[in-house]
Amino acid sequence: MGWFRRLAVGTALVYLTQSVLAIQLPAGYDTVWTTQSNNSAGSMPVGGGDVGLNVWAEAGDLLFYIANSGAFDENNSLLKLGRVRLSMEPNPFELTAASFEQRLHINDGYITFTGDYNTLIKIWVDMDTSGIHTEITSDNDLSLTASFENWRLTERPMSEGEEVQTSWGVNPVSQIPLPTQYNDTIHFRQNGVLSYHHNHDTPLTTFQITEQGLQNDNPSSFFNPMKNNTFGAFMWSRQLKSGAITSGAYNGTNFTAYNLISEHPCKTFKLYIGTAQSASTNVGHWTQSLIDDAAKMETASQYNTIKWWNAFWDRSYIIINPEAGPDDSGFQVGKNYQYFRYMMACNAKGKYPTRFNGGLFTFDPSYVNPLWYPFTPDFRKWSGGTFTAQNQRLLYWPLLKTGDYDIMQHVALTSEQIDNTGLPNVYEYDASLFSNNQTRDPVLYPAGIDFNDWLSWYQDTANEFADMVLQAKLYNGLDITPWMSFVEYQLAWFDEYYQMRNGLDFNGKLIIYPGSGAETYKLALNSASTVSGLRKTLSDLLALNQTWSKGNATYYSQYLSRVPETPLDSCPGYSTLTCVAPAVNYSFTENTEPTALYTVFPWGEYGLGQPTNLTYAINAYFNDTQSATFHGVHGWRQDQIWFARMGLTADATANTISRLNDSTTYRFSAFKGPNYDWSPDINHYGSGAIGLQEMLMQTFARNNTQIRLLPAWPSEWTGYFKLQAPFSTHVSANITGHSVSNLVVIPASRLNDVVYGTE
Ligand SMILES: *[C@@H]1O[C@H](CO)[C@@H](O)[C@H](O)[C@H]1NC(C)=O
Ligand SMILES: *[C@@H]1O[C@H](CO)[C@@H](O)[C@H](O)[C@H]1NC(C)=O
Ligand SMILES: *[C@@H]1O[C@H](CO)[C@@H](O)[C@H](O)[C@H]1NC(C)=O
Ligand SMILES: *[C@@H]1O[C@H](CO)[C@@H](O)[C@H](O)[C@H]1NC(C)=O
Ligand SMILES: *[C@@H]1O[C@H](CO)[C@@H](O)[C@H](O)[C@H]1NC(C)=O
Ligand SMILES: *[C@@H]1O[C@H](CO)[C@@H](O)[C@H](O)[C@H]1NC(C)=O
Ligand SMILES: *[C@@H]1O[C@H](CO)[C@@H](O)[C@H](O)[C@H]1NC(C)=O
Ligand SMILES: *[C@@H]1O[C@H](CO)[C@@H](O)[C@H](O)[C@H]1NC(C)=O
Ligand SMILES: *[C@@H]1O[C@H](CO)[C@@H](O)[C@H](O)[C@H]1NC(C)=O
Ligand SMILES: *[C@@H]1O[C@H](CO)[C@@H](O)[C@H](O)[C@H]1NC(C)=O
Ligand SMILES: *[C@@H]1O[C@H](CO)[C@@H](O)[C@H](O)[C@H]1NC(C)=O
Ligand SMILES: *[C@@H]1O[C@H](CO)[C@@H](O)[C@H](O)[C@H]1NC(C)=O
Repeated sequence: MGWFRRLAVGTALVYLTQSVLAIQLPAGYDTVWTTQSNNSAGSMPVGGGDVGLNVWAEAGDLLFYIANSGAFDENNSLLKLGRVRLSMEPNPFELTAASFEQRLHINDGYITFTGDYNTLIKIWVDMDTSGIHTEITSDNDLSLTASFENWRLTERPMSEGEEVQTSWGVNPVSQIPLPTQYNDTIHFRQNGVLSYHHNHDTPLTTFQITEQGLQNDNPSSFFNPMKNNTFGAFMWSRQLKSGAITSGAYNGTNFTAYNLISEHPCKTFKLYIGTAQSASTNVGHWTQSLIDDAAKMETASQYNTIKWWNAFWDRSYIIINPEAGPDDSGFQVGKNYQYFRYMMACNAKGKYPTRFNGGLFTFDPSYVNPLWYPFTPDFRKWSGGTFTAQNQRLLYWPLLKTGDYDIMQHVALTSEQIDNTGLPNVYEYDASLFSNNQTRDPVLYPAGIDFNDWLSWYQDTANEFADMVLQAKLYNGLDITPWMSFVEYQLAWFDEYYQMRNGLDFNGKLIIYPGSGAETYKLALNSASTVSGLRKTLSDLLALNQTWSKGNATYYSQYLSRVPETPLDSCPGYSTLTCVAPAVNYSFTENTEPTALYTVFPWGEYGLGQPTNLTYAINAYFNDTQSATFHGVHGWRQDQIWFARMGLTADATANTISRLNDSTTYRFSAFKGPNYDWSPDINHYGSGAIGLQEMLMQTFARNNTQIRLLPAWPSEWTGYFKLQAPFSTHVSANITGHSVSNLVVIPASRLNDVVYGTE
């Protein structure tokens, strides 16, 4: 008890003086490279605010890409702001240099390079302003050229296939002319380089609105992140002046470089790059304010940013086998789990969510696949502005247990594959029309529903975002008033639409048809993922005592009683066994998600500690021949989460190691991909992070009250963790194999809710 009291007091202190008491991640979590990289695929991430950089050294130069999470152009491509190249003379980074090191200082969130002449270069991004700071010190006088490289200086039609980075088509649409890539503006200004993109036209939105028959619905009132969006950077330094304008090519993409050169050789340089993104109809004011803000960077200190990162790491961690060294798979799993959270935090203050397909850290697409994607560094598959809910949710679910509510607040999605405007991608809305000239069946595919075999009637991923909102309140008491209408209208759709269409069955239950089990079970009746999700979301809603604007407690209780039972059936191929079924019935399958298991995750209806019979879910995984090939360890798949929630330790461990061990595809250990999506595959890591958390601590059972520790934890993993549980509960402990020591649960009353293993 004395130990507990001391820690409880200590915890209060941590919040006041984080920088002193904050946890330090193991020193081995720093990434250290002692040779230069071959190309941009050999980069490492750093970021802050809403800006992420890929940083690397190549052939004696230091380079970085700059990405901003709101840089949507006229076509809803998510453009890079540009690329920066630093060249020095005499060069401390000659390939023959005796001393080269590139290091990610993970605890403090910055990167350094060291080279000859005791040269040290530090690169960090200000968490508050998203300004990029580069600080150079050397024993030698150096001449520096800082080049801002831009590859969008001429307006041009996109190449065939390139448009899949836009919202014109996640697949090419031959009936639509190739979209225009509009140009940036770049010039020297006040001895710096100003480079920006301003959207002055929105042909995409005009097309979408007409395609979807919304032209008479006051479209100018629609939310439109592309409208007048303006984004760019201003690079300057007191030690540099404008130099030549040169040109070159990087992996097949031509660029123009605006070079800043040193007035005279110096031992220290400070280079500042201000960044900005916002809608503007007055570009003159916008650029002036960018330049004014960049001027203030001179007086900014890194102290606040370091303090932010220290507090962030102290908030939550899962450290595994910290002493075991870099080759240990447990050590790698722990490190790369932390790196996932690091990449999410680089967009901590973004107005837009981190994308599942590359986040802020994409690199030249030929390094993802040289044959398929000979496009510019702006390219990524599955669009920059279309958000795929099935994939996005995997980035945000793990942030409940890490307590990262600040980072969660920018994500909310409605139907599957929705643009940041709220409208579907052009191709997705009418894919069947575009690809084989079908006509819409007005009953099965009425206007307003995607006419696309994968997406039609696929509305329930949004229940996950609704429940995430509710759970953010359950976990942390977050004020969710701003999201309540999203939650209530999302839930209302199923009740109101299906009652209008089908009435109720003779038991007074909803008849959810036509529905969908993810992209897989099409024209489904009572899809398991839908009914289980409605039950969970409505239960969480009722548990909250929230002020409701649309419904009330009576309404939601009655709605809950109208939700059909989760379907059970004999297992396909094993007629003597009972399985959770993906739906009561369905017409055909399209993709390969085994959605019967969605009752385990995300919905937790089946799982350790729940009153349902877990055998039916385990059978659905192992003894259902229909979905037996729908298993895997990559990308958006969720097998390791299900294993953890079903208490299957060996399977969960093997899958989690495969997911979170060091990458062999790219140099940075947490860059894997493309899997089903793009590199770096952020949803691969989000799914891995959820799985690891569920191996360690589960909190969904008994109406979110149970705290189950080590339900699927391998005995060879030792370490320590700090995670958040529902009802503003903080849990931390040391773990040695299957035992826990120094357990601290705050508030202490919640200790009664702790159970262990699969008991
Ligand atoms: C660079 O490429 C060479 C040849 O493919 C490879 O052997 C080497 O490991 C690469 N270096 C890095 C740092 O990735
Ligand atoms: C780029 O676009 C801007 C405005 O959008 C225009 O003023 C400028 O002339 C263009 N530059 C080039 C080189 O096309
Ligand atoms: C702002 O966007 C609207 C709608 O696309 C467009 O009509 C207008 O010309 C834009 N204004 C500027 C200054 O770019
Ligand atoms: C770009 O990189 C890819 C992958 O290394 C390579 O195959 C291709 O030849 C490069 N293209 C150019 C034009 O350099
Ligand atoms: C890139 O530049 C080279 C040399 O100036 C030129 O031949 C080539 O056509 C350019 N490529 C593109 C795609 O513009
Ligand atoms: C669709 O119909 C148009 C006009 O009849 C035709 O040009 C086009 O080739 C057809 N597309 C497909 C994929 O069949
Ligand atoms: C909701 O209210 C009930 C009864 O007033 C109370 O028992 C329960 O703890 C409250 N729940 C939350 C999450 O505040
Ligand atoms: C609750 O909502 C239902 C309709 O959904 C309405 O009939 C009822 O009057 C409401 N009850 C209260 C107390 O507001
Ligand atoms: C769960 O179902 C299996 C198979 O029908 C059965 O053998 C087992 O007794 C059930 N377990 C419980 C707790 O009801
Ligand atoms: C169900 O699957 C498991 C795991 O593959 C297997 O061991 C078991 O024999 C199967 N059950 C039946 C009844 O075949
Ligand atoms: C969860 O709460 C509901 C409503 O209060 C109750 O009916 C149910 O038994 C509870 N479930 C568990 C597992 O405690
Ligand atoms: C126990 O956990 C704390 C962090 O909560 C850590 O600092 C300490 O090193 C751990 N002790 C052991 C023996 O792992």
